[in-house]
Formats: sequence, C-alpha cells, structure tokens
Amino acid sequence: MVALDVVHASNARLRELGPDLVALFVGGTSGIGEFTLKAFVQNTISPRVYLVGRNASAADRIIKECRELNKEGKVEFLKADVTELKEVDLVCKEIQKREKKINLLFQTQGNLTLNGRNENPEGLDRKFTLNYYSRMRFVYNLLPQLRTASAEPPHFSRTLSVLGAGHEGAINLTDLDLKTTFSGARCAAHTIVMNDFMAEEFAAREHGISFLHTSPGVVNTGLTRELPIWARALMKVATPLLSLFFVSADETGQRQLFLASSGIYPPAKPAQGAPLAAGVPFPKDFSVSKGSNGKVGSGAYLVNWNGDISGNEKILSDYREKGVGKTVWEHTMGIFKQVEKINQGGIDSATS
Ligand SMILES: NC(=O)c1ccc[n+]([C@@H]2O[C@H](COP(=O)([O-])OP(=O)(O)OC[C@H]3O[C@@H](n4cnc5c(N)ncnc54)[C@H](OP(=O)(O)O)[C@@H]3O)[C@@H](O)[C@H]2O)c1
Repeated sequence: MVALDVVHASNARLRELGPDLVALFVGGTSGIGEFTLKAFVQNTISPRVYLVGRNASAADRIIKECRELNKEGKVEFLKADVTELKEVDLVCKEIQKREKKINLLFQTQGNLTLNGRNENPEGLDRKFTLNYYSRMRFVYNLLPQLRTASAEPPHFSRTLSVLGAGHEGAINLTDLDLKTTFSGARCAAHTIVMNDFMAEEFAAREHGISFLHTSPGVVNTGLTRELPIWARALMKVATPLLSLFFVSADETGQRQLFLASSGIYPPAKPAQGAPLAAGVPFPKDFSVSKGSNGKVGSGAYLVNWNGDISGNEKILSDYREKGVGKTVWEHTMGIFKQVEKINQGGIDSATS
C-alpha cells in the first residue's frame, strides 16, 4: 500500500510537468471522476480540462469550484450520453478541433442498475457500453492526441479506466458482448476482464503511453442514483455499516490522481532524455510496478485503490494462455467497424 503522505508528496510534484497539461474526464460530473478532476486542477499549472457527462448543472457547479481551486485552470463541459458510440465520436471530434495533445484520459462513466439488457440503436447494451465500449472508443479515437502528448515536452501520456481491476470473473468467449446471455454479474465480469486485456493490448502497440485499469475501493458517490427506490432505501440503511470501509472523497481524488500521474506506472518505452515521460518521479524506496503481463514496466497496469498491483492472476493467466487478449482486441475492433457502418462512416480510424 502506498502511504497517503507519499501520495500527497507525489501529487504536489505534478507541477514539475509544467504548464498547459490537457486532461479529459469522462464521468467527471460526479463521484470518483469529480474528486480526481478537482485534485488534478488543484495540483497542476494552468491545466485545460474537459469534463464529459449528461448533468449540466453538476458540471456548472464543478467548474465554479475549480475556479476557486486554480484561477489559471480552464474547465469546459461537453455534454454527451456515452451509452452510444456515436456520441463518443462527436465528443472526440469536438476535442480534436481544440487540442493537439491529451496528457491524461481519465474514465469513470458508469451506473448501478438492476436492469436487464438494454440495447442502444447500435446494438450494444448501454451499461456494457458505459463500462467498456465507450471507454475503449475514447482511447482509440484519441490515440493521435495521446501520441502527441508522449512526443512533446513533458512527454507525459496516460489513460486510466476506473472500474474493477482485481474483481475478474469467468467470461463467455462465445458471447463476449452478452447479446444472448446478459446478466448484471456477467456484465461486470466481462467488462472488467475486457478492460484488463485491452490495457495490455493498447500498451503492446503504443509504447509511449501507459494504460491503467484501477479499482476505487468502496467510495460514497452518486452511483446508486439509478437503482429502484427500494434498493436505494436498502443502501441507505446499509450505509453506516459500509462507511466503515469507505475511502473518503478527498482520499479517493488524491489516490486516483497518484495512479494517474506517478512514475511507478510508466509507459513501456518512455521518451529518452525526458525524466518526466514516465510520470512524477517516485521515492527511492519504491520501484516501477509489475505490468499486467508480469513484466516490470510493461505499460499496462491493473491497480487497486491503494496503489498495489491487483488482477486475479488465476483467471487472467488461464485466459492469457488461451490468447484472450487477441480475441478481445479483434472483437472490439469488429464492434467498432459494425457501429461505424450503422452510424454511416463514424470517424477516421486512428490505427490500422
Ligand atoms: N463508488 C464505488 O464504491 C465504486 C466501486 C467499484 C467500482 N466503481 C466504479 O467506478 C466508476 C465511477 O463510479 P462513481 O462511484 O464515481 O459513480 P458516480 O458518482 O455515479 O459517477 C458516474 C459518472 O458517470 C457518468 N455517467 C453515467 N451515465 C452516463 C452516460 N450515459 N453518459 C455520460 N456519462 C455518464 C455520470 O455523469 P452524468 O450523470 O452527468 O451523466 C457520472 O459523472 C463506475 O464505473 C463504478 O462502477 C465504483
């Protein structure tokens, strides 16, 4: 576990990366995204931050609060419902008009529902899309901007998906998108394992960018807002008990920002001669983390809320032997092509 004072000291050094870092927080209008966005704004010099979600009044409040935290910072809201990839593509195009580079892509879009499969016009389940397809689509679309960030001072470029690293379960390789076998538990297992393997697949192709999939612990956020009233009442009753395990809002923001910036989780090949390309330098008694494929500094990391490496090795090593990474990559690229056709063209491919 990384001690909280180490986290704070590391975040305070983020300013060494210099002015004008650009960050995108998808799901920054509430909870873990909001807490981390604020910590980022507070610890950076004249950052430019994009905030994506549906709730405009929450975004207004956060933008005002950020002005108090950092007068030189600029935070802008881009409204989108990212349960549809068409909306993801539109947001990405908007950002690409304004920015050549993105140093940090931080994703927390998600909800807690008891609903069954709920298909969007693209043929994808909406919850599955929040947890997985939209996240991968943001990364895929924005690769040119992430690559530029890794090529220009301070050469820092990272993506982070907050979901459930370490909570992997069995997946059905013959129905990866759960078209015919959907359940809430399977949706969680599939999207967690698929986030894991896509971090690894992207890192194997993009050597200047690091890809993290993290778990936040138990955090008191707005996550239960879409549950039925009886379930919310039950959660309310359970809250005093759960609160024994809560990671506070402030600690969550600070810890996730640490994961989003520490040199403990560097890209596979950080730019030469650029000491900050790996991230914020770490204290002498720390070392570069083991990547998800077991190789130190591989560029893809599965990390627990407290900075420790996670990932259910028993499940993942079996899947790795079966070549599931390649299967997940090909499935995802296939879905993107299919959806682009539905949406008549979609956006230009970022990779071949
Ligand atoms: N909190 C926990 O204890 C916990 C534990 C394990 C895992 N997680 C995972 O961590 C992630 C973040 O959770 P959280 O606790 O921070 O939840 P939260 O407070 O509910 O935040 C979720 C964010 O996702 C956005 N979002 C939801 N649906 C959206 C849509 N259709 N289009 C665009 N944005 C959408 C929300 O924005 P709008 O409402 O503005 O759209 C909000 O900003 C989730 O994936 C969750 O499963 C959380």
